[in-house]
Amino acid sequence: MRIVLLVLILAATPVFADTPRDFLNRYEKEAGAAGNPTRGGQFFVKRHGGEWSCSSCHTENPTVAGRHAKTDKPIKPLAPVANAERFTDTAKVDKWFRRNCNDVLSRECSASEKADLLAFLIGQK
Ligand code: HEC
Repeated sequence: MRIVLLVLILAATPVFADTPRDFLNRYEKEAGAAGNPTRGGQFFVKRHGGEWSCSSCHTENPTVAGRHAKTDKPIKPLAPVANAERFTDTAKVDKWFRRNCNDVLSRECSASEKADLLAFLIGQK
């Protein structure tokens, strides 16, 4: 009976119950260093050899809504303080980090770059 209950509880718990802080911790662990919010902010607005920066679509202020630089579609704010859905779903975070970093840097972002970005985004008020 106890085992049945446990299984029921586990089944009802969302698999991707992550928080922005969990992502920061994960990237910091992978990078072996703390995320630096100032560096994350600079990384966010800078171009990295290509046409776009993160801010091209997400604006220089991650607490406001952005627009896709190509399709002009609205994009909800990236900072968790302005959008509680951000950094709560591993599949979504992985997918968009991969795609967006490739668009901006022509490669994936490193763990230390992601730690900086998360520190920057979580630090928004
Ligand atoms: C060409 C436009 C564009 C650029 C440039 C861009 N993004 Fe995005 N980003 C999007 C879109 C579109 C989504 C998905 C729609 C949504 O989640 O609102 C998204 C979603 C994300 C998400 C998902 C977060 C979540 O939990 O929902 C992350 C993380 C992200 N972007 C980070 C970045 C970073 C870091 C950069 C710079 C390296 C960047 N983006 C550059 C368009 C862009």
